[in-house]
Amino acid sequence: MAELVPVEPFDLIIFGGTGDLAMRKLLPALYHRDRDGQITADSRIIAASRGALSQDDYLANVEASLRNNLAEGEFDDVHWQNFRSRIHYAQADAFKHDTWEQLVAVLAGNEERVRVAYLATAPSLFGPLAAGLKSNGLITAASRIVLEKPLGRDLTSAREINNAVGECFRENQIYRIDHYLGKETVQNLLALRFGNSLFEPLWRRSAIDHVQFTVAEDLGVGGRVEFYDGVGALRDMVQNHLLQLVCLFAMEPPSSLDQNAVRDEKIKVLRSLKPISADDARHNSVRGQYSEGAIKGKTVAGFIDELANKDSSTETFVALKLEIENWRWSGVPFYLRTGKRLKAKHSEIVVQFQDVPHSIFPEQEFNVSPNLLRIRLQPDEGVQLSVMAKEPGPGGFDLRPVSLDLSFAETFGVRYPDAYERLLMEVLRGNPALFMRRDEVEAAWEWIDGIIESWRLSKQKVESYVSGSWGPAASSLLLDRDGRGWYQGD
Ligand code: BG6
Repeated sequence: MAELVPVEPFDLIIFGGTGDLAMRKLLPALYHRDRDGQITADSRIIAASRGALSQDDYLANVEASLRNNLAEGEFDDVHWQNFRSRIHYAQADAFKHDTWEQLVAVLAGNEERVRVAYLATAPSLFGPLAAGLKSNGLITAASRIVLEKPLGRDLTSAREINNAVGECFRENQIYRIDHYLGKETVQNLLALRFGNSLFEPLWRRSAIDHVQFTVAEDLGVGGRVEFYDGVGALRDMVQNHLLQLVCLFAMEPPSSLDQNAVRDEKIKVLRSLKPISADDARHNSVRGQYSEGAIKGKTVAGFIDELANKDSSTETFVALKLEIENWRWSGVPFYLRTGKRLKAKHSEIVVQFQDVPHSIFPEQEFNVSPNLLRIRLQPDEGVQLSVMAKEPGPGGFDLRPVSLDLSFAETFGVRYPDAYERLLMEVLRGNPALFMRRDEVEAAWEWIDGIIESWRLSKQKVESYVSGSWGPAASSLLLDRDGRGWYQGD
């Protein structure tokens, strides 16, 4: 494992400090980094929220939540004593800037050190919180602000948020999170592409038939049903996570890992995405919504039942065929699908290479399958390359695909840090390369808004699919029509 260097002392303010994200992801991530010695003893985590909680009550909540959210054996009583000494609680209401006295007092005198405000709140609070930091004189030269997704629900609202935050912070102080960029295997995509000379000559239209991106979840929307209704999978998953995967997969080689070198290449991909017109939408997009079914042998409710039978046309599944209009990718279809309550939690990118131009194995012609490169993102992260090989034995040539299979867990044998562990450390170090720049977020929204408008014009229906399946039938048809099929599921 790479050597872990402590980050310089910091004050990290988590707004939404009692919320789900803070409790389930941020505090466990900080706990791990602290345990690994990356957080200095004088660094402080200041949880802020509307409620007037005592320090002891807050710490009791954190302890309970860590015990609940850390994997078995990871909670350590001795270490907890260290970690808790770094945590402070302060009340701060986004809309009442005069309630921030406690926070102002905690931060006073520490103006020189790295100060990060992490907004783990609804996006409607981003502007008011940034303004509160400013009006209370809490923005220092060494301040950074982290914005969680969703960054708005369309281009207009994203711009409003960016403008409001931009009135208080410079662009290079703003860190927009897409937690997929913090996933080890997503970063491994960069290692695979640019740490090997093998793939680059093949990474283009002349060698690749098509690419599939699947981000499948077996969970439903759960407690977020009210928020999710009216948002849907296109905004929740495609606008950010899937498009980021497409960008990293399809971008030109950047000259370095410098923050702007990578982001400049990603934005070129976003700007090369062919808009999906209303006419295209009918053939090249699928919307689905889960109905009652069974997952891992357990009956689960449909989306409408979870919404207490309120009618809804929100999609919990989306599949798209997209085209990238540039020299490298022209004519190569990129198929994307993501959905909730699918058969399994399974995310991967599958690259299907072109057929051999001519088969020298006439009698087994049908046996020559195209080479596949599968990049498994989760679970069981790894890379698999399938090549044709001859079955041993005298006589004819019986060919079958065999796999060169690399499982990262087996090879490296270490715990995979959660995406937030990496991203929090990057913010504290002041490296924004793994965060989205304003122009990227807005370019992604522009393309997504086009699809939403096309759905409206073409009155695109939401098809029901049974929970525990691989999505609606139309999703298979999307590929069938092109003589192809999804590699996982049907
Ligand atoms: C979030 C979405 O950004 O990503 C959720 O809002 C989704 O709806 C989650 O469940 C998936 O993340 P992961 O890391 O579990 O793949």
